[in-house]
Amino acid sequence: MTYKNLLIDIENGMAIVTINRPKAMNALNEITLTELQDAFVNCAEDDAIQVIIITGSGEKAFVAGADIAAMQPLTALEARQFAKLGHQVMRTIEGCPKPVIAAVNGFALGGGCELALGCDIRIVAENVKFGQPEVNLGVIPGFGGTQRLARLIGKGRAMELIFTGAMVDASEAYRIGLANKVVPFDQLLDTAKAMAATIISKGSYAVQFAKEAIHNGLELDLDRANQYEAELFGLCFATKDQKEGMLAFLEKRQAKFKGE
Ligand code: HXC
Repeated sequence: MTYKNLLIDIENGMAIVTINRPKAMNALNEITLTELQDAFVNCAEDDAIQVIIITGSGEKAFVAGADIAAMQPLTALEARQFAKLGHQVMRTIEGCPKPVIAAVNGFALGGGCELALGCDIRIVAENVKFGQPEVNLGVIPGFGGTQRLARLIGKGRAMELIFTGAMVDASEAYRIGLANKVVPFDQLLDTAKAMAATIISKGSYAVQFAKEAIHNGLELDLDRANQYEAELFGLCFATKDQKEGMLAFLEKRQAKFKGE
């Protein structure tokens, strides 16, 4: 996988996807979004990859938003198309059977905050600032921020952030549930990799079904969601990892999961 604006490193069952446009604060333009779409489809298909970590290059920005210079002259129809491209990328990340961890290394603004919201888990460096500053530009969030922010941190807090365009620092992001964990900048990637390694050590089908149940279940009413969970719980019993995991417990030993 070779890209213009992304770097991909694969090690120990994890792919580290780095958005690499540091001069533009890793802003998302069409090509970067298209490359992200392609990279996540490839990572989903690659059996050597079990967890994906996404981060930004440099120390300043994870992603400072969609590319404002590229957006400024767009027509209404082009802008709608651009929003849909972002939606497609976030949906691909959510639909990816493998967990996706955002290692948020700096500003996560606008489309950058939305990209982090599209990921399953957010590990955040102490220097990070999150925000949806679109109102400062005369627009609204367009890569799913009006929807996912409210779902993650609640309607009232999402409205405050989106109406004011205010930024929140890492500790506030943690307090309101936007960040799972806050660590010093120099420990960010190692912390993300350690979490990825923990996930990789589990039965990969169990992790995959759990992701599917959570994402899809949240869009259903509770009875249907529970039904969906029961189906996936049952499906776990079609895997060798379930037999091994429960047998290992009964034999008082560590399970040896094979992802089968
Ligand atoms: C394009 C960007 C950019 C962006 C920064 N840059 N953010 N270029 N799009 N979103 C560029 C700057 O133009 C500048 O280029 C270089 O990166 C460094 O930025 P500075 O502003 O000089 O750095 P600093 O003073 O440290 O301020 C950092 C910052 C600020 C606070 C992150 O850059 C900022 O406010 N950026 C915009 C954040 C934003 O509004 N994001 C939301 C975008 S709308 P030069 O060439 O001058 O060095 C959005 C909508 C999503 O995301 C949905 C779309 C459908």
